[in-house]
Amino acid sequence: MKSAPWWKEATIYQIYPRSFVDSNGDGEGDLVGITANLEYVQQLGVDAIWLSPFYTSPNKDGGYDVADPRDVDPRFGNLADAKKLIDRAHELGLRVIADIVPNHFSDQHHWFQAALKAGRGSAERARFHFYDANPDGTPPNNWISLFGGPSWSQVEDGQYYLHLFDSSQPDLNWENPEVNADFEKTLHFWINLGVDGFRIDVAHGLVKEDVLKNHPDPQGLSNALRLDVAMDAQARNALLLTVPYFDRQGVHEIYRKWRKIFDSYTDRQIMAVAEAWVHPPVNATRYVRADELHQVFNFDLLTAEFDALVLYDVIDRSIELNATVNALPTWALSNHDSPRVASRIGSEQARALALFVFGLPGSTYIFAGQELGLPDGELEDSDRQDPSFFRTKGKVKGRDGARVPLPWGGDSTPFGFTTGKPWLPISQSWQEFTVENENQNPKSSLHLYKNALSLRQMHLTGQGGIEWIESPQHGSKSNALLIYKRGDITVLMNVSDIAQECDVDGKLLVVSSGVVDPHNGKKVIPARSCAWFIA
Ligand code: NOJ
Repeated sequence: MKSAPWWKEATIYQIYPRSFVDSNGDGEGDLVGITANLEYVQQLGVDAIWLSPFYTSPNKDGGYDVADPRDVDPRFGNLADAKKLIDRAHELGLRVIADIVPNHFSDQHHWFQAALKAGRGSAERARFHFYDANPDGTPPNNWISLFGGPSWSQVEDGQYYLHLFDSSQPDLNWENPEVNADFEKTLHFWINLGVDGFRIDVAHGLVKEDVLKNHPDPQGLSNALRLDVAMDAQARNALLLTVPYFDRQGVHEIYRKWRKIFDSYTDRQIMAVAEAWVHPPVNATRYVRADELHQVFNFDLLTAEFDALVLYDVIDRSIELNATVNALPTWALSNHDSPRVASRIGSEQARALALFVFGLPGSTYIFAGQELGLPDGELEDSDRQDPSFFRTKGKVKGRDGARVPLPWGGDSTPFGFTTGKPWLPISQSWQEFTVENENQNPKSSLHLYKNALSLRQMHLTGQGGIEWIESPQHGSKSNALLIYKRGDITVLMNVSDIAQECDVDGKLLVVSSGVVDPHNGKKVIPARSCAWFIA
């Protein structure tokens, strides 16, 4: 019998290289540091790592501003270090997913530098979106960058170039065959070095339409696209249907070509996961049609309240939508772009939700430090480095809080992350979260993650879909429990602040916090907690 592809129900650990382990005392994590600590990752029980960018970069956007996509930034090491990392991961049975950033390059990429020199109308400028100013000198249209401010910057001769993100990240023109060819070369390059897959940055953004047209409500659109701006859901959804630079049909042609490249490797299964924030949600399924990519991130749990109805709707919809294209969903509670889940919903809630999600079909992404229950780091404005902080003149605090380096051990900050000064300060209060401390504490989040991931591996992989045993009712105020069954396992989550009695058979396997007591022949599930039972 053919076994299921490795990525179908994998657990994937996201490493932000700058924040994992620093091996040379310069205050920033590096590839040698990662390689030296891969055993820790393996012992967590995950199947793969996803490495955020470590390519040559001026680091204006944490490495998502790539100046050479086929080389390693000296801050992180060199290509030989990358090869050693990949080989060591494979020795330990871990797959490696690299990040690829096709929407834009850094302005330091030699193509952009050549475009500046070559001038208007040149083949060099045609690799980007360069246009003349309007007659009154204003930019070609009124779009607003996702990091704030105009999405156009002007060069010396008066032309403007488009950048959906920072001005140091010029968008590439995917109608240009040279752009296609260069990225295909990059894919082959990393596959030949040994990677097993790709996470595709801004996968929905490559193709633009109406580049010379104004949007009727650019500020509204910009707010709608930002998760930290509160907005009426209907208004947001209406605006999200009008984005002229995301989710255009043309992107799918690109991924069909890429899929052929991935499938041309027969020595191993190469996979790709799309970062595609699209609306309406059904559009996400297009990225995972049989001849396109393998997975698409589901970001709903990054923002969902710890509420039975909200969680049920998100989970049920994601499973159903993916099923329409014969794909399995993905789950993520945290990543380098959003507040850490323990800070967002509370630490007990975060443990419960992780355990609940680990039981579900599909793949789960775990952001390094999530297994420790890390909160967001508390930072002074003077520590911040996120371009969105600068481009909004401090109005948006940005994503640095989630990127504070990991605490490994010892009694004082920086807790073994570096022998130098960490690039973001690590609070002394993080002593309780060090790997060393949590390893010694059977009640720690780290123990819960290890235990749950091994139980998932043992009892749930390949077990098919779930059956909801208790799902919340719309309009009811007493929605406390979510219960599903998968294979022999029943998973119960009590989202309320009061312990709940449940009728459940079987033996307790794991509980996210507190103790499950028997009462009147029933089981009492603690407040804000999740438990697995086996029949
Ligand atoms: C998404 C990445 O996750 C984020 O960190 C980055 O700033 C933008 N894409 C732009 O590349």
